[in-house]
Amino acid sequence: MKTILKNRHFVNLESLSTTEINSLIERSLAFKRGEPAPDFSDKTLVNLFFENSTRTRSSFEMAEHRLNMYLLPFETVTSSVQKGETLLDTCKTLEAIGADGLVIRHGATGYYEELLATLDIPIINAGDGSGQHPSQSLLDLMTMVETYGTVEGKVVVICGDLQHSRVARSNADILKRLGAIVYGSGPVEWYDPAMGIPHLSMDEAVEQCDILMLLRVQHERHDGTTRFDPADYHATYGLTHERMNRLKNSAIVLHPAPVNRGVEIADELVEHPRSRIFEQMKNGVFARMAILEWCFSTKSIKGDDEDDNTN
Ligand code: CP
Repeated sequence: MKTILKNRHFVNLESLSTTEINSLIERSLAFKRGEPAPDFSDKTLVNLFFENSTRTRSSFEMAEHRLNMYLLPFETVTSSVQKGETLLDTCKTLEAIGADGLVIRHGATGYYEELLATLDIPIINAGDGSGQHPSQSLLDLMTMVETYGTVEGKVVVICGDLQHSRVARSNADILKRLGAIVYGSGPVEWYDPAMGIPHLSMDEAVEQCDILMLLRVQHERHDGTTRFDPADYHATYGLTHERMNRLKNSAIVLHPAPVNRGVEIADELVEHPRSRIFEQMKNGVFARMAILEWCFSTKSIKGDDEDDNTN
């Protein structure tokens, strides 16, 4: 294995080999088991959240703290973003000031393309519009592997607002690459054939799945023309008590959250023993520690010089 000195960006999972992704899952689980965290006290990070967040922002902050990084405070509402400063200029400024890496959530799909062409420091994508949410995918994979040991051969049904969900897009791609059998479910008007996953009704989904991945309805990305009734949605596309009883005994339920209780999932089922929703949040810290370690480590990890990301 060679020593890698280049900066690694983490903007999607497509650009990582399956070996690298499996190594990141292994590192996430190792941190959860208590593996000591490396010391990155020489690194300064900035978290730039142009869209709201509870989990992603807080768990990146916790991961940065556990890796002993310095977190330079930044708030879009008090910055010169409010005077019209572009994303590129904000990021170039932070790089010039001495930031070693930027964690960014932004509403524009693919916002990071021009940053990758210009900046020399790692960009870590914390969600881009309806594009990708790769750190969420990694923590979801970690949660599945923690339960089953592998995702290979497992039936995963991603349910809900597929068209507007960056979580669905990230997960559908990587789950297929890792050998899972992936389906979509939910309203056909929000089904995205470009994801290349067959569609099941919610009743078919609960009977076939090993992993039921529910999605939040992304109202903020809708054009306002679709009539939406929460009770109707729950009855037709949600995880009701009756559907929960029809899941396989071994099946688990995931949701990236925030959860609309009583819409995607019945209120009391969020805390059901087969729900991994709060475990996903816990796992998010360990997954983000593994991502930051991967971005800043100068040591090679398995898969660095492989190019097996096209299968
Ligand atoms: N799952 C997720 O991205 O949650 P936040 O929007 O709260 O970060």
